[in-house]
Amino acid sequence: MSASRTSPEPPIVAPSILSADFSRLAEALAIADPALDWIHCDVMDNHFVPNLTFGPLIVDAARRLSAAFLDVHLMIERPDRLIPAFRSVGADLITVHLEACEDPGATLAAVRSSGARAGLALKPATPLRAAERWLAELDLLLVMTVEPGFGGQKFLADMMTKVEAAKAWRALHGARYLIEVDGGIGAKNATVARRAGADVFVAGNSIYHASDPAGALASLRRAIR
Ligand code: DX5
Ligand code: ZN
Repeated sequence: MSASRTSPEPPIVAPSILSADFSRLAEALAIADPALDWIHCDVMDNHFVPNLTFGPLIVDAARRLSAAFLDVHLMIERPDRLIPAFRSVGADLITVHLEACEDPGATLAAVRSSGARAGLALKPATPLRAAERWLAELDLLLVMTVEPGFGGQKFLADMMTKVEAAKAWRALHGARYLIEVDGGIGAKNATVARRAGADVFVAGNSIYHASDPAGALASLRRAIR
């Protein structure tokens, strides 16, 4: 198992390799600066979401190709069984969906005992109060800003009230979680989400479908600083 990497200080951009050209994964990963950025890996199982992507094998490749902090977003039913496999290939943070867990507290404990940081994700229809019981122990709260499953969807601006509520809850209770937004994030929406309180900004299409991905990543970084 690789040692845990130190995370850069927020605000952080997390390029999502879901939108990258996998025949040129090394190039896609090389634009991330480990001192500034994370790499976001979207794992989908065709059950929790209709799409099917990749498992630990690609996370392992990403680990060997990049020194960046690996942010693994599990959009899978019953994630417990796969936590050790993702950790053993070097996932630094593992996020599970509240809606996919039979016992979220036990799943989050399994993530932490694997040595990874623990994140909890909420679909757009899931209110913050549904996660309240676990917020104090989280390293990251992922507020989905699209319906999980596919890259390239439209940013749901309504989710900013959830981001604001998560920020207020964190201050009130002295919690430590980072607030991550994922879906439809480009420079313009990143500014909106930053103002609402987001710390980590996942971006797929706005980076990897740009004519200059490194330039698009740089302008996203500027937008949130
Ligand atoms: C969607 C994924 C996202 C996706 C975002 O279910 O969780 O991480 O890669 O892609 P864009 O930035 O294109 O919306
Ligand atoms: Zn994601």
